[in-house]
Amino acid sequence: MGNILKLEDIKRIAVLGAGQMGAGIAQVCATAGYEVVMRDIEDRFIQKGMSGIKGSLDKMVSKGKMAQADADAVVKRIKPTLLVDDCKDVQLVIEAVIEDLNLKKTVFGELDAKCPQTTVFASNTSSISITKIAGSIKRSDRFIGMHFMNPVPVMKLVEVINGHMTDPAVTALIMKLSEKLGKTPVEVNDSPGFVSNRVLLPMINEAIYCLYEGVGTKESIDSVMKLGMNHPMGPLELADLIGLDTCLHIMEVLYDGFDDSKYRPCPLLKKMVDANLLGRKTGRGFYDYSQQAPPKK
Ligand code: CAA
Repeated sequence: MGNILKLEDIKRIAVLGAGQMGAGIAQVCATAGYEVVMRDIEDRFIQKGMSGIKGSLDKMVSKGKMAQADADAVVKRIKPTLLVDDCKDVQLVIEAVIEDLNLKKTVFGELDAKCPQTTVFASNTSSISITKIAGSIKRSDRFIGMHFMNPVPVMKLVEVINGHMTDPAVTALIMKLSEKLGKTPVEVNDSPGFVSNRVLLPMINEAIYCLYEGVGTKESIDSVMKLGMNHPMGPLELADLIGLDTCLHIMEVLYDGFDDSKYRPCPLLKKMVDANLLGRKTGRGFYDYSQQAPPKK
């Protein structure tokens, strides 16, 4: 306890994972002026992450939301790396690796041994228990959930999740930091799916049941929710954006966590994941993206 960093102490941030979420998080941190180290385990993942960041910045420049020189400076502030040691001299680690508890424990465990004791650890997990990940490392009081939404550069929310052991001063720090990133943080407590995915995913799962049972076509289900509820995307389009594997994983966390049949994943969702129809990232989910230019992130 004690000796919690202040906002002005944070200068360098390590982002673990250069996928859709990791790259987006690295981009918003660098845009806010932080030096960022973005780590992944293979060069092709790093290359894909950096090209996603450049594409997103290009979009902002072409819409007049950012000057070209500022976009270039953002890219320069991001150091891509394959080495864990490049991530040790940072004040904040934000993890965005795949949704696998053991992998998360491993990457945090490595850095727990290398980073200064004051470094705060945050996970962007969409549903794995913050308390459970924190329980595997020594600094459980300096561990917190920082759940960004996809596409990260556009969506305003950061769901800030307190684990059982999170020091309130760490929560206050991460709330302020999220504001500095241009986001609106909302504080919640650790529970399966937190608030965001406990509410969102059962809706998506129910939309998949509607398709599975022939209540409507994919287009009609999405149109009902877009036109009737003013959602920017229909639930099936949104599932394709999130990734069907991620959707299934979150439903399984809810189903296991609450032991309640109302969270039973739709068999069609399971079948599509088995068939590798994961949405935009594999070129096909409920909709076909194979004929399009690279999907929007
Ligand atoms: N980088 C930078 N800018 C981007 C961007 C990106 N990756 N993606 C979109 N934009 C910008 C566009 O340039 C555009 O800017 P202007 O308003 O200046 O024109 C604006 O965002 C809107 O984009 P588009 O015109 O291309 O398309 P759109 O109006 O259909 O909006 C959308 C796209 C923002 C994705 C919108 O459809 C939307 O809000 N969808 C819902 C997304 C959502 O619910 N996300 C949460 C998913 S759940 C999650 O992430 C958590 C989890 O754990 C599962």
